[in-house]
Amino acid sequence: MANDHLTLTETAKLLLHSKEYDLPAYTGSEGEVGLDITQLRSKTGAITFDSGYGNTGSCASAITFIDGEKGILRYRGYPIEELAKNSNFIEVSFLLIFGHLPSKTELERFHFNLTHHSLIHEEMKKFYEGFPSSAHPMGILSSMVSSLSAFYPEAGYNADVELNITRLIAKLKTIAAFSYKKSIGQPYVYPRNDLSYSGDLLHMMFAVPSENYEVPKVVEEALDLLLILHADHEQNCSTSTVRMVGSSEANLFASISAGICALWGPLHGGANQQVIEMLEKIKADGSDYKKYISMAKDKESKFKLMGFGHRVYKNFDPRAQILKASADKVLSQLGVKDPLLDIARNLEEVALKDPFFIERKLYPNVDFYSGIIYRAIGIPTNMFTVMFALGRLPGWIAHWKEMRETPGARIYRPRQIYTGETKRSFIQLEKR
Ligand code: ACO
Repeated sequence: MANDHLTLTETAKLLLHSKEYDLPAYTGSEGEVGLDITQLRSKTGAITFDSGYGNTGSCASAITFIDGEKGILRYRGYPIEELAKNSNFIEVSFLLIFGHLPSKTELERFHFNLTHHSLIHEEMKKFYEGFPSSAHPMGILSSMVSSLSAFYPEAGYNADVELNITRLIAKLKTIAAFSYKKSIGQPYVYPRNDLSYSGDLLHMMFAVPSENYEVPKVVEEALDLLLILHADHEQNCSTSTVRMVGSSEANLFASISAGICALWGPLHGGANQQVIEMLEKIKADGSDYKKYISMAKDKESKFKLMGFGHRVYKNFDPRAQILKASADKVLSQLGVKDPLLDIARNLEEVALKDPFFIERKLYPNVDFYSGIIYRAIGIPTNMFTVMFALGRLPGWIAHWKEMRETPGARIYRPRQIYTGETKRSFIQLEKR
């Protein structure tokens, strides 16, 4: 159980209104200390105030460990660098969701199940007809995932969780690829059971009936790496949303659909699209990247260097480092020369030496180089965040499942400090 790693190590003292209170302090398996304030309000009448939840531990979790100061990211104890080098997305998904690296039989069974659940109900195809072709694929993705609960009404909170997990991972890539085909007006390409997860996704996106399309190995590997690097990141905005919605015992599909919406925003997963749009803007402006560094430092301009900064990483984002190396490799293997990569490199070089960024510990995050790779492998810009969602899916599922299996898990219900009007009497309309 997730709480097994919590050890009551010491007691903190709180002095409030001249009275002393004991707060139990728990320590996680990596030595992180958390003060238990669950009894704070009932004992003292006070709540904690932590806008943006930067210091709030909302749960105990055994899935992912991050040390933002040291740039460490581990899934179930395995360093991201080792998984990126040696594993594949399906194996990593199994690891995150079920907690251990799969045996050969387990992996084969998982892969078999994922391929044999990848079709979506033919009736669901009609939904695509209702969307305008200009619809953002993230909107389509979240709607389609939510609608899965209509097609699998038995998928309630207490349903056959493993079956629904399989269905969701298997079908999300079909839903994503169909939304792309819809946006460009091409016929849907059905999933193939002989391809890898990433290979099948690319095949469904890029194959056309009149041509033989084989997914280039370098493209398949690049996408698989991106999916692995995005697979989990503990209590980020979208994962916390999945937990928040799931805490009401909403079903898996409804909870994940909410996570997709949270990911869409430009401060979270939507940043990868914004990075490319920013780089394109700089290119169109004569590639004057220094001007944009100055703008990012000028608060009046409201301009932010997209793909820079992170709530947790305050030294470097290990995923960005892997992706920077991968971007060089993929572009050279594909023979792609992208001027946006040069602008990105220049921005990074200048920003890393600039006191504004150094003082605020602003470094490139995972989204800074991912867009360059997506572009090089032919993924259209408005599909970048969809790729992120596909990658993050096993993480969301793992958290939803962990919460569901935690004894005594409670509905998420934060408090607030009220700053509105105090009591006043209603005034009739004619007297206002
Ligand atoms: N460009 C310029 N200045 C920045 C940037 C940036 N990208 N990011 C943060 N800052 C500045 C802030 O203005 C603030 O300055 P101040 O202390 O003088 O007021 C300081 O750095 C701290 O930033 P906060 O916004 O308080 O940091 P927070 O942890 O709340 O936000 C976030 C983190 C949202 C990632 C932010 O850095 C940002 O908006 N970055 C750009 C968007 C982005 O790349 N998002 C993807 C994140 S990774 C992911 O979700 C997968």
